[in-house]
Amino acid sequence: MESPMVIPINNIRREVRSLKINIQRVMEDIRTISSIRPEGSFGSTRFSYSEEDRHAREYVIREMTGAGANVWTDSVGNIHGRIVGTEKEKSRVLVGSHLDTVRNGGPLDGLLGVAAGLEILRVFQEEKIKPVRDLEIIAFSEEEGSNFGATMLGSKCLAGKAGLEELRRLKNDEGITAYEVMKKFGLNPDSIEEDLFKPEETYAMLELHIEQGQVLEDSGASLGIVEGIFGMTNIHITLKGIGNHAGATPMGLRRDPMAAAGRIIGKIPEWVNQIGSTQLVATVGKIQAYPNASNVIPEKVAFTVDIRDMEAGFIGKMESRIREELERLGKEGIQIQMETIATSPSVSLSREIGDILKEEATAMGISNRNMYSGAVHDCAMFTDMTKVGLLFVPSIGGRSHVPEEDTKEGDIGAGISVLLRAVCRVVME
Ligand code: GLV
Ligand code: MN
Ligand code: MN
Repeated sequence: MESPMVIPINNIRREVRSLKINIQRVMEDIRTISSIRPEGSFGSTRFSYSEEDRHAREYVIREMTGAGANVWTDSVGNIHGRIVGTEKEKSRVLVGSHLDTVRNGGPLDGLLGVAAGLEILRVFQEEKIKPVRDLEIIAFSEEEGSNFGATMLGSKCLAGKAGLEELRRLKNDEGITAYEVMKKFGLNPDSIEEDLFKPEETYAMLELHIEQGQVLEDSGASLGIVEGIFGMTNIHITLKGIGNHAGATPMGLRRDPMAAAGRIIGKIPEWVNQIGSTQLVATVGKIQAYPNASNVIPEKVAFTVDIRDMEAGFIGKMESRIREELERLGKEGIQIQMETIATSPSVSLSREIGDILKEEATAMGISNRNMYSGAVHDCAMFTDMTKVGLLFVPSIGGRSHVPEEDTKEGDIGAGISVLLRAVCRVVME
């Protein structure tokens, strides 16, 4: 039997820098998984706990197992694939991203980080690298909030920042709780406590992701070293008026929740401007009218507001502006309800891991820059418990959460190569 490659500590950087990834294999993973979609749909639609998710899971589990990892799925559906290090008492290194998508999203959001993890496992297997620390690849569930409106649910549960109470409160559009959906999928959310992330068991976590914005493309850099991730609040607003006939009800006699919703939605860009943060963003991405018919004044309108900034104070100001306007509508006879579905604070990432990523990128001659992330990511859930690093590759045209989402193959290769080298260094520490 061949013995594993043992890298002398002072040679780690040199040895690690000779490692190569197989980009064709990575692109094949991405092509295969991203083409699993509901029949007749376009782009990538792979909600957690759906049939598409089940197929994608089978692929990921098969690849992880084939690359020599011990694989298991935790109580809320996160897939873990671990290779064991030589020093038992040393804590593990986690690498991964999410497997789910938004509706009609792109091929790379989340999946890139999972595919990078698979490739790292394969390189370790082929090169017979025996890490000092355990290396665990993770494919998170329900990061997008596509089912229940709450982002990063899989990582949040693992981090102990959401639990059974949350899973019983959150519902999908059919009114079924996250708890029930997970059970029906064959998971056992009741044992959530047993899977909790233990800070002492983890040394570092690294995630590779597409930028989803235009900073890298505009600056001409091939990689982004992320310093911080925006905080985010998701609000659900319901306005109730009086449903009635669209033709027979004079304008002055209406209590129309759609017109009321329009007043709020139309003012959002103006309020963002007035609040004056250069980073603040707010989005209404989902709206539903009941009964949703062209000739009926709706009885009820429900919509979401997604608010993000590095500073919680600006998010709070935006929430207050919305609340003030809702109160005004209340006085005009519209019944209002405003519920916070999920929040996540802004976080700072590990400078130490950031420096390793930068060193490896620079050693490869790959242009890079430091930046912030407006999108949220699973790794944000662990910054208070371990050292976290996040690496970005550019998004063509800054587009994401749409079928057109894309990244040049060369940039994907650069991102995974730098991640591989950084991971090698960290698992050998
Ligand atoms: C996740 O993609 C998010 O930032 O909404
Ligand atoms: Mn993502
Ligand atoms: Mn996303």
